[in-house]
Formats: sequence, C-alpha cells, structure tokens
Amino acid sequence: MNPFTFQNPVKLIFGRGQVEKLKEELPRYGSKVLLVYGGGSIKRNGVYDDVTRVLREAGMEIHELSGVEPNPRVTTSAKGAEICREKGIDILLAVGGGSVIDCTKLIASAAKYDGEAWDLVTGKARATEALPFGTVLTIAATGSEMNAGSVITNVETQEKYGWGSPLSFPKFSILDPAYTASVPEDQTVYGIVDMMSHIFEQYFNNAENTPVQDEMCEGVLRAIIRTAPELMKDPGNLELRETIMYAGTMALNKFLEMGYQGDWGTHGIEHAVSAVYDIPHAGGLAILFPEWMEFNVRKGTRPERFAQLAVNVFGVDAEGRSTEETALEGIGKLREFWSMLGAPARLADYKIDDEHIRLIAEKASGGGPVGRFAKLDTGEVEAILRNSL
Ligand code: NZQ
Ligand code: ZN
Repeated sequence: MNPFTFQNPVKLIFGRGQVEKLKEELPRYGSKVLLVYGGGSIKRNGVYDDVTRVLREAGMEIHELSGVEPNPRVTTSAKGAEICREKGIDILLAVGGGSVIDCTKLIASAAKYDGEAWDLVTGKARATEALPFGTVLTIAATGSEMNAGSVITNVETQEKYGWGSPLSFPKFSILDPAYTASVPEDQTVYGIVDMMSHIFEQYFNNAENTPVQDEMCEGVLRAIIRTAPELMKDPGNLELRETIMYAGTMALNKFLEMGYQGDWGTHGIEHAVSAVYDIPHAGGLAILFPEWMEFNVRKGTRPERFAQLAVNVFGVDAEGRSTEETALEGIGKLREFWSMLGAPARLADYKIDDEHIRLIAEKASGGGPVGRFAKLDTGEVEAILRNSL
C-alpha cells in the first residue's frame, strides 16, 4: 500500500424522509441560507417544496440562486458569491446533482475571496476561508456529496478543471433515494457510467499489496452491474435506487482509494472533451474509458490488472486465454454492458469529428503526462481520442 492519511468530515444522512434533518443541521450555522439549484427539476418533482417547507419550519431566511447549468459555469459561481456578500448569507444549501454541488463549492470559497472565482479553480489562489454548505442530493452519479472536489467550466476560454480544498467538503449531505426516482433514463445511465468510471480510475494504480481495496472496488462494481439492468426496467423501484445511490457515494468518497493512487487520466481527457463540446460528463466517459483500457492493454501497461478486472468483475474465464486476451475480453464485456444500458459508444454519437482532436489532447495533457497508472503523452491521448471517433 502507499502511505496515506485519510479524513472525510462529511456527515452523511441517508434514507427516506431524511430531509427533515435540515431543521437540525442548518440552524447550527446561522439563519440566512442561499438555496442553490439547477434548471428546475426540483420544482417538478416536489423536492423544492419539501426543502423550502423544512427551511421555513426551521425559521431560516431563504435566498435563491437557480439555473446552475449541467457542467457548471464559473460565471454562475461568481454570481452566487456576489449574492452571498450582498445578503450576508450564513450557509449554502445545494439541492441537485454534481453540477449544483460543484457550483456551490466554488460559491462557498469565492464568497470569501477578493479576486476572481476562476483563480481558485486554476490554482492561481488557494481558498483560506469559505462559507459552510450542505447538500440535498437528487441524482446518483458524481460522489460530490461526500468529497471535496468540484469541476467548473470556463466557457470563454473553453477550459474545464477539477479543483478542491479541505474547505470544500460539505458539512452534511442528505441522500433520500426517493428524490432520485424522477431522474430520466439517460441521466440514470450517465450516473451509473460515472460511478463505475470512478472506481476504474482508482482501481488502475501501481500500489502493491492492496487485496482489501481491490475486493472493495470489485464488490461495488459487481453490485452496480447486478442492479443497473433491473433499475432500467423498473426505474421507480426505490430499493434499486437506494443501492445505486449508495454505490455512487462510495465510489468517490475516497474510501476506496486509501492506499492507492488512482490514475484519473480518462477523467482529465473527458473534461477536455466536454470543455470544447459541452457534452454530458459520463457520456464522454462511456466512450473514452474502454478505449483508454484497450490502448493500455495493447501497449502492455500491466495487462494483468485489466485481466484481474475481467475475471473478478465481468466473470471472464481466463482458462486457455493469454493475459491480454482475458483483459480484452473483459473490456468487450464492459462495452456490451454500457451499450445495453443505452450509453453512447462513439464521439460521433455527439457529432464530434476530428476537427479539434489535437486541441483536446493538448488541453488534456497541459504539457505533462496524463494519468498516473499509465502516464500518457499528448500523442497517446490523441490516439485514444481518434480511436473514439
Ligand atoms: O438542472 P436540473 O433541472 O436539476 O436537472 C438535472 C440536469 O439536467 C437533472 N436532474 C438531477 N436530478 C434530477 C434531475 N432530473 C430529474 N429528477 C432529478 N431528481 O439531471 C441533469 C444532470 O445533472 P448534473 O448535476 O449535471 O449531473 P451529475 O450529477 O452527473 O453532475 C455532472 C457534473 O459533475 C462533474 C461533471 O464533470 C459534471 O460537470 N463531476 C464532478 C465530480 C466531483 N465533484 O467529485 C466528479 C465527477 O467525475 C465529475 O467530473
Ligand atoms: Zn466522473
């Protein structure tokens, strides 16, 4: 194992009806709350009514920022920070998915920073103070509800980067699986692809002696693979929603990564694609991840690790097959699984052609190697992107 220090301070409040706990959690931090949400799904599915009722019962003064975009923009966070300063907001409450939560993370830090919000994303400045914030999660996908990461887009410069600081952990997150029942089919699939990809990013690492971590990753993946097809047939089933919601949080609250140092290269490549084309994050991952895997197996980057995944997660029989064949068979099964769920498989599905491929590869590598398990140079990233067209 790699040496590690682990701390995750997020209070996780999980289960049906847990929205009532806002009454206990919010007043600890003051009385003025900024409710942050997206394009209106919470108004259609009743979550907005539930949350605002509880906030009123808790005696909170409610302010609102709506319209957070999928792939949230730095300009929206800057606007939120301005509201916080003007109104003297005490605490933020993100009600939505990864985009709303990530936007809120930046608002919380930008509200206490004098310069441009984008400085915090690029690392030009570090947050030294932040407003507290909580979340009510409405879609199982990113794990942002229980980590300190935030991914923000600058449309003007066509850049999309992840950033984070110890100040960007939520104080608490409320996860009610019933709130995810209205997530449409395509977004449900994206969420499943995203959480599986998060586990892959961590699983592909060069640490030795990690049998506990490996089994945990493989176990969560198997549970997702068993549950997802049932959920697609029965989207209102709250037990299945509950399993997927819990899996999404566990996939990226960094419990699985203890003692590992994940790769995260595919996420870097995808962020560069969605910075240029504004496609859904996990739509990009569904296309890129199998290509990243195949590229590495064919290059000979520890194919035994890919074979382990094939056998332990996808049930491939290694008998009579070479390590490379076993690995490739597993990648084929992953492709089949994601296609069966309805995920896209080619960049052409988003009408992306080769016009900006070199630019995307350069944005992804930013001059340095991409990933830690497989350190790819710009030419290799470009090859993966071309294989994905
Ligand atoms: O905007 P609204 O109207 O709320 O609609 C959203 C949005 O259109 C809708 N939705 C959410 N909950 C719903 C619902 N529709 C009906 N019923 C509900 N209960 O779903 C759409 C997608 O929402 P979004 O928040 O964008 O999805 P997701 O949670 O997948 O977040 C994606 C963003 O997170 C970043 C991605 O890059 C992307 O910007 N990521 C953040 C990470 C993190 N902070 O740790 C890690 C990830 O790898 C990822 O990069
Ligand atoms: Zn992701």
